[in-house]
Amino acid sequence: SIVNVLICGGAGYIGTHMLKMLALRGYETTVFDNLSTGHRAAVRWGRFVEGNILDREALDRLFVSQHIDVVMHFCALSQVGESVRDPYTYYQNNVTGTVTLLEAMRAADVNKLVFSSTAAVYGVPVNEGLLSESHPTNPINPYGASKLMVERVLEDASRAYGLRSVILRYFNAAGADSEGDIGESHLPETHLIPNVLRVAQGIGEPLKVFGNDYVTRDGTCIRDYVHVTDLAQAHFQAMRFLESNEGTHCFNLGSGKGHTVMEVIAAAREITGQPIEFVRAPRRAGDPPALVADIRRAIEVLDWRPEFEDVRSIIETAWRWHRAPHY
Ligand code: UFG
Repeated sequence: SIVNVLICGGAGYIGTHMLKMLALRGYETTVFDNLSTGHRAAVRWGRFVEGNILDREALDRLFVSQHIDVVMHFCALSQVGESVRDPYTYYQNNVTGTVTLLEAMRAADVNKLVFSSTAAVYGVPVNEGLLSESHPTNPINPYGASKLMVERVLEDASRAYGLRSVILRYFNAAGADSEGDIGESHLPETHLIPNVLRVAQGIGEPLKVFGNDYVTRDGTCIRDYVHVTDLAQAHFQAMRFLESNEGTHCFNLGSGKGHTVMEVIAAAREITGQPIEFVRAPRRAGDPPALVADIRRAIEVLDWRPEFEDVRSIIETAWRWHRAPHY
């Protein structure tokens, strides 16, 4: 049974929530992170090894020094705009880095992986309605393409080497741990909810709302916001699933509900009691009008269900963190 978990990217936003959950449930954790976007202060549980997944020798040393039962792989560059400007860096880190990690796992006989993928693999949805895992994949930026390439590598690795893997396609990760000790801290911050809450605190530039002429109920984009603790719980179920299942398995992770940018702002106004003023800005390149997950497969196969069903509860936990961030 699984005891030792390696969390690559465990100093980042989602990895930190995973780390806390596993540590509190009694698992032995090792975080491997190069701290390029993660925070050393967030790694308050288990072992920490500073290193880069492109460094095969560092990975080999880690696998020799510590028995690992399963790898959870959160390390990636994840900014869509940056990936368009600098695709080599994205393919290098996200694809070559992951293949390097997989080779080191194979050499160390570690055959279970939970991989963070993204709704960006779908590109622009071909029809309205919920996106299921069988929706065609057609990424429109290098970030999404890099994640889809790794998905393909995992399928091939399962056939060739018997690697067991779960691919989790996140929609919009948001919120923070309800105890307020860990949360989201990106620089620069491009995501909607933290930017809305920054403006609620009166910090920095005014909020920009990108686009007001999308074919949606109020002209702004619809997204599916899923709480980061719910994401961590899904990884936990995925890890358990790998104990008894071979092959590669892919699941969407969202709340299954869509909210427009204006609806997020309205909810944040209620929660914070602040006016949260915004300016209208042109559409942001590459933003599809609506992305909402069909999450039935994760519910049925992984026996997972999002606990934070209401976007308000997601914003509330984020607000608590952003008023008193620890890093
Ligand atoms: N938005 C604004 N103002 C902001 C920030 C965002 O109006 O300051 C809008 C965006 O245009 C978009 C929505 O709010 O319509 C959500 O934007 P985010 O940047 O929070 O999230 P995205 O949906 O663009 O991106 C997320 C993940 C990506 C992933 C993508 C898949 O963060 O990693 O979903 O489509 F690639």
